[in-house]
Amino acid sequence: MTTVRIKDLPQHVGEKVTVDGWLYNKRTSGKLQFPIVRDGSGYLQCVVFKKEVTEETWAAADAATQESSVRVTGTVREETRAPGGVELGVESFEILGTAAEYPISPKEHGTDFLMNHRHLWLRSSKQHAVLRIRNEVEKGIRDFFYDRDFVLIDSPILTANAAEGTSTLFETDYFGEKAFLSQSGQLYLEPAAAAFGKVYCFGPTFRAEKSKTRRHLMEFWMVEPEVAFLEFEGLQSLAEEFVEYLVTRALERCQEELKTLERDQSKLENVKRPFPRITYREAIDLLASKGMEAKFGDDLGGDEETVIANSFDRPVMISRYPTDIKAFYMQPDPNDPSVVLGLDMIAPEGYGEIIGGSQRIHDHDLLLERIKLHNLPVEKFQWYLDVRKYGTFPHSGFGMGIERCVAWISGVPHLRETIPYPRMLNRIYP
Ligand code: 4AD
Ligand code: MG
Repeated sequence: MTTVRIKDLPQHVGEKVTVDGWLYNKRTSGKLQFPIVRDGSGYLQCVVFKKEVTEETWAAADAATQESSVRVTGTVREETRAPGGVELGVESFEILGTAAEYPISPKEHGTDFLMNHRHLWLRSSKQHAVLRIRNEVEKGIRDFFYDRDFVLIDSPILTANAAEGTSTLFETDYFGEKAFLSQSGQLYLEPAAAAFGKVYCFGPTFRAEKSKTRRHLMEFWMVEPEVAFLEFEGLQSLAEEFVEYLVTRALERCQEELKTLERDQSKLENVKRPFPRITYREAIDLLASKGMEAKFGDDLGGDEETVIANSFDRPVMISRYPTDIKAFYMQPDPNDPSVVLGLDMIAPEGYGEIIGGSQRIHDHDLLLERIKLHNLPVEKFQWYLDVRKYGTFPHSGFGMGIERCVAWISGVPHLRETIPYPRMLNRIYP
């Protein structure tokens, strides 16, 4: 007997097949039972007719509890009203593993309860949909860069360097030396850009963020492109092309998931280039015009970002932030050295900053000065300074935390649902 995945069943109408899966739900009416089976690829309505099956099969279908693993054999029939457009006329129904009373039911559960059962919550239809969108975004990221001739450079997770400030480092012992979990692969990509021209990395990054917000995780996945000879204008174009590509691809390939999540897709259909570009100074003026207190030198928090985002119908790019509030490696604006050629892309609908990037300082002496100014240990950055000693070149790159992007595309409010096993303040279980 051929075993078929549920999503492929429409190609097997009229055939006898076997489906392996878990019991999702069940309806009974006298001589008929309608178990619904899911296998990760879809949902299948099965029809068990008492007159047509053995006593064992009837009893097994009757006894199966929610989430028991089952093996069902029968004939595939067209049924337009069933999910997927087919149903299975059951000949045999076998329980492989009986599930104990399943803790997650369709009724409402508290967040803490669901987070404690994350390993089971993954099976729920909404969680399943969000993680499928994540899967599509990850494949989209790799395709986007591969198709544009970028080389994937895997950056290390254990590092001696702080890339994004020393306040959010996870520290560990490395044979008696101090090491950190990587906050960003950027420092390792810049030398690789000199080797390959266009590179990117995509891996887990870590920040000990001592705040509990819906936009922060301790461990998140970041994709970071870095391009030799690319200057700030080109960087902004790359960022908007990338985000337009990911959203368009999700709309094309994740229709079922977006429907399961009841996502308002019209909001995503707006995400077309060009995206609005404003400077930090314009952002401050915009905030003031909306009655928010903000002055030059202030960092823009989540509330400010939301007010700015609500003024536009697609992502907005804010550039030229004050030098003092941005990372040490950002290139000063040649027309106004009090600001840097840095950019943040803010997603619509309150999802906040999805991309942070900049042109990098390529002058050796200026970079050295900045490393010292930020009290970073110069000896640990010699290798990074070398990029400026051996054929220096203007270059730019950005980083996108994929959980924020997936949350926005999916329309789920909190980042914890966009990664299989979220690491949050005071939570490392399961
Ligand atoms: O703005 P960030 O800190 O930039 C960098 O790390 C640069 N080195 C990237 C580069 O230029 N190559 O972080 C980049 C992005 C943010 O825009 C956000 O999407 C995400 O990473 N991010 C987080 N996502 C979830 N939880 C957190 N705690 C995050 N911190 C940053
Ligand atoms: Mg940032």
